Amino acid sequence: MEHNDLANEIRNKVDIVDVIGERIPLVKKGRNFFGVCPFHDDTNPSMSVSREKQIFRCFSCGTSGNVFTFLMNYEHKEFKEVLQELGSQVGISVSNIKVPKRASKYDNLYNAYQLTCKYFQNNLVSPYGKAARIYLDERGLKDDIIKEFEIGLSLPQRNDLTLLLQSKNYDLSQLNDIGLSAGSNDSYSDRIMFPLYDPYGKIVGFSGRIYKESNQSKYVNTKDTVLFKKGDCLYHYHKAVDEARVSKSIIIMEGFMDVIRAYSIGVKNTVALMGTAFTDSQSRLIKRLSKNIILCLDGDPPGRHAALKIGEKLLEDGIEAKVITIPNNDDPDSYIIKMGKEKFLSLIDTAIPFGDYKISALKENVNFKSDEDLALYIQNVIQEVVKINDEIRAEIILKKLAKDYNIGYNTLEKRFRQLQQNQQEKISPIKIEDKLPKKPRKSKYIIAIEQVIYYMLNHEEVIEKVEEEKMIFPSNEARILTNEIIYFYRNHRYIDIASFYTYLQDKPDLLQYLNEIVSSNYKEDWNEDDLYAYFKVIEDYRLSQEIKRLEKLMKEESDCLEQAKIAEQIRKLRLGEKKTWLEKLKH
Ligand code: UTP
Ligand code: MN
Repeated sequence: MEHNDLANEIRNKVDIVDVIGERIPLVKKGRNFFGVCPFHDDTNPSMSVSREKQIFRCFSCGTSGNVFTFLMNYEHKEFKEVLQELGSQVGISVSNIKVPKRASKYDNLYNAYQLTCKYFQNNLVSPYGKAARIYLDERGLKDDIIKEFEIGLSLPQRNDLTLLLQSKNYDLSQLNDIGLSAGSNDSYSDRIMFPLYDPYGKIVGFSGRIYKESNQSKYVNTKDTVLFKKGDCLYHYHKAVDEARVSKSIIIMEGFMDVIRAYSIGVKNTVALMGTAFTDSQSRLIKRLSKNIILCLDGDPPGRHAALKIGEKLLEDGIEAKVITIPNNDDPDSYIIKMGKEKFLSLIDTAIPFGDYKISALKENVNFKSDEDLALYIQNVIQEVVKINDEIRAEIILKKLAKDYNIGYNTLEKRFRQLQQNQQEKISPIKIEDKLPKKPRKSKYIIAIEQVIYYMLNHEEVIEKVEEEKMIFPSNEARILTNEIIYFYRNHRYIDIASFYTYLQDKPDLLQYLNEIVSSNYKEDWNEDDLYAYFKVIEDYRLSQEIKRLEKLMKEESDCLEQAKIAEQIRKLRLGEKKTWLEKLKH
């Protein structure tokens, strides 16, 4: 069977509202469902999902598509994988179908890391790996965890990996570029190797840990390359994606040993920061996983400081995280080892909102006997309360403050309102829309073309009108897209946007154009008068373009006879060698 037919058979058995709704909260408004779009940085519900049409679209970032498009983008999967997944849910086998696989220009590099990972893993089980195995065992890392995290070992010889990769036709300069070799030597020697993954689960680097007495730095990471930026990396992200959905929260830790330890006791919705400052791109990535973000950093002063910084950044980015405080300078890894699973699980339950955490952190180093210190402290607390932006909590905190320090509630509230006012004045000029790239205003004829195409996608009668009137669209992409719509309609005897998306699957340019149209809020209900008015705009434009083209041709023509012929053509066009349907228009 043709893969498109099978795809649509599967599509007809699932409901896009259910599939998206399982992943993103949707609220019904009128005929459609709305949710926060996962494909751009947003907190407003600007994505709409239509049960009738079986499509989704975001009016803010302009993404649209059917259930396959959604899953491919959301779960970073290939078309075939998505087909298989949904197919198995509805009992349709997709095994023997051929869908062209997208080749990536980086495939060769990914393969190098993959090969290297296997090589490190083999080293670990080789006779030389004994000391490393003992080290891992002493740290309580069992074989299943070593396998799950693909932990390996680099050998103390200086160039065995480089030689291996060279024998597989990688050249030295390439190996240097991707951080596996340094000069003609290997980048790592005699370290326990942890692969680092990109958000889609591909290995893009390594971190190597010393395991013997040594004065070298504890971990060495792959340098930044085309595929890997340490500051963008969140360790274990690719697996936390699904776990966060199940547990409806995501836990941020400092080190990947913390993540691995938590995983081994079944806490799998975790990512690690890799010892860097928290970046914009990490913030964006993490917000995609869950809005319920829990900071579980080391219990030492640097860890507490990091919690303040990261919490503040997330708050600026629109999310109030929760914070866990680990006692006694422990990190999650050492806490779990000492206290065990149950104690760690209850510790997670003690997470407090970042605002409260910040307020209690403000208490440190305040001399409460000094009126000045106290006043400053209260001022700082109120400033935090403003940032939290939650009136109920504001009232709770202010009341408590009034009671604890015996200050009139009204005095505190008045100050709160003042600071709130200041903040609003500060932030109000920046609206969310301003952050989005402004779409250029479209000209009248482009609007007409796109509106007609949108009608065609929704109403078979319009496709028939377009054919009947032999409409010629004056832009290439419109011509190609409308031809595809007509072709689809002739073959299927119906049109529906969701199936049409599948049909365009391997035509990315057209898909993008379709996206643009579907996410632009064009009218859906059509009537003949409107349609013909749009036809006229399009036709006028086409004629004016055609006349321009002929005039240019005429100028370039040296033969008088030919010139006269062209002039006659132009005259006819001007006079209106017009289509009979234009008479239908009442003007
Ligand atoms: P930590 O020193 O907290 O790591 O650094 P850890 O998880 O406790 O390590 P173990 O338990 O001693 O093995 C946190 C993270 O900072 C990065 C690593 O990514 C580490 O997971 N780091 C740390 C480095 O990149 N280089 C270093 O030398 C140390
Ligand atoms: Mn540790």
